[in-house]
Amino acid sequence: MKSAALLFPVAVIALSACSQSEETSTAPVDAMIAEERADLISEGRAIVEENCTACHAIGAEGDSPRQDAPPLRTVFAEFDAEAIGDDFREGIHVGALDMPDFDFGPLGTEALIAYLQSIQTEVPAE
Ligand code: HEC
Repeated sequence: MKSAALLFPVAVIALSACSQSEETSTAPVDAMIAEERADLISEGRAIVEENCTACHAIGAEGDSPRQDAPPLRTVFAEFDAEAIGDDFREGIHVGALDMPDFDFGPLGTEALIAYLQSIQTEVPAE
């Protein structure tokens, strides 16, 4: 009887400490991740605006300037984001023969893929 009465408050304190630390620790981290993601996406957008607009539509709508270049908002329906990322990162040729070889470096490629993911409108094929 005596030990149960002693244990009860300890358990309550332990529980509340636990839920409290969960609330206070994940919210700022989530916000930080979201902010970093947003920065990455806007970096990627700048890369795409500079390098891809000659041939590809890069926004939420509109046709590509070049008929044979798919709008970038649809490319991950057909191609795997990981694979395209690897190709860009490793300097493997992507796209048409006259599509330039790009070297954005690992961080630039990360940003590029983040932007492309953010604009996809077509659900990837299974
Ligand atoms: C000189 C024109 C040109 C430029 C500039 C260009 N592309 Fe392309 N891209 C093409 C064409 C044309 C295709 C279609 C190739 C095909 O279907 O064989 C293509 C295809 C692609 C594909 C689909 C994958 C594939 O192998 O077909 C991706 C992804 C892609 N381009 C991304 C980009 C990105 C990102 C940029 C800018 C960093 C870019 N392209 C710049 C012409 C271009």
